Amino acid sequence: MEQLKRQAAAHALEEVRDGMQLGLGTGSTAKHFVELLGERVRAGLKVIGVPTSETTRADAERWGIPLTTLDEIDHLDITVDGADEIDPQLNLIKGGGGALLREKIVAAASDRMIVIADDTKWVPALGRFPLPIEVIPFGLGATRRAIEQAFAQCGVSGQMAVRNAKGGDKDGHVFVTDGGHWILDARLGRIEDPARLASALSAIPGVVEHGLFIGLATTVVLAGGGGIRVIERRKPKGDQE
Ligand code: A5P
Repeated sequence: MEQLKRQAAAHALEEVRDGMQLGLGTGSTAKHFVELLGERVRAGLKVIGVPTSETTRADAERWGIPLTTLDEIDHLDITVDGADEIDPQLNLIKGGGGALLREKIVAAASDRMIVIADDTKWVPALGRFPLPIEVIPFGLGATRRAIEQAFAQCGVSGQMAVRNAKGGDKDGHVFVTDGGHWILDARLGRIEDPARLASALSAIPGVVEHGLFIGLATTVVLAGGGGIRVIERRKPKGDQE
């Protein structure tokens, strides 16, 4: 599996040119991309990156990849990131690693978003992977009720649980995002209309962000036993299919 992730990362790296401003994703697949990019930087490639998490920042720094922020630069050429699920319209579920908020800000500021993944992430419909919803701890009960209403309006239902920190389940330690928020993971099974659910969740005051990435991915690079498959978005970035 790691081999497939690395192959997808290597394919995305072929799109990177000298002078590019890059969004650097988070997760085990994006980590391969950062490593491969780091090797090219050590060999003389000139790029600058914006990391989507403190973990990716540390990895990129270790490789000597120059970093900046979206305050210093006004756009990114390409963001390369992983995903938890990808549907045929190139809508995504992201946030299994908890970095969805920064990942979405960075993807939205990029001309292109290349998603790299092994082909187990390709699904006919989103929802088997629990949908991460980043929330403010204050008023969590009210936010949960509003989310349940949004689910009902959008024809989905399922269990929702506050994410625990790794190894913290016994002590009840809650996972805290880089932004200081919590995550609710919602097991929905199948999301018939991801764009509608995305809008409904975004309208809830206590929801900071959710893991539905609609209309953001421009290219998907899938690595499988039979080789690499590249799927391009048919509509311009931002348009919903
Ligand atoms: C991080 O918050 C996530 O969005 C990751 O991009 C996603 O979970 C994919 O991670 P893996 O590449 O580790 O599967």
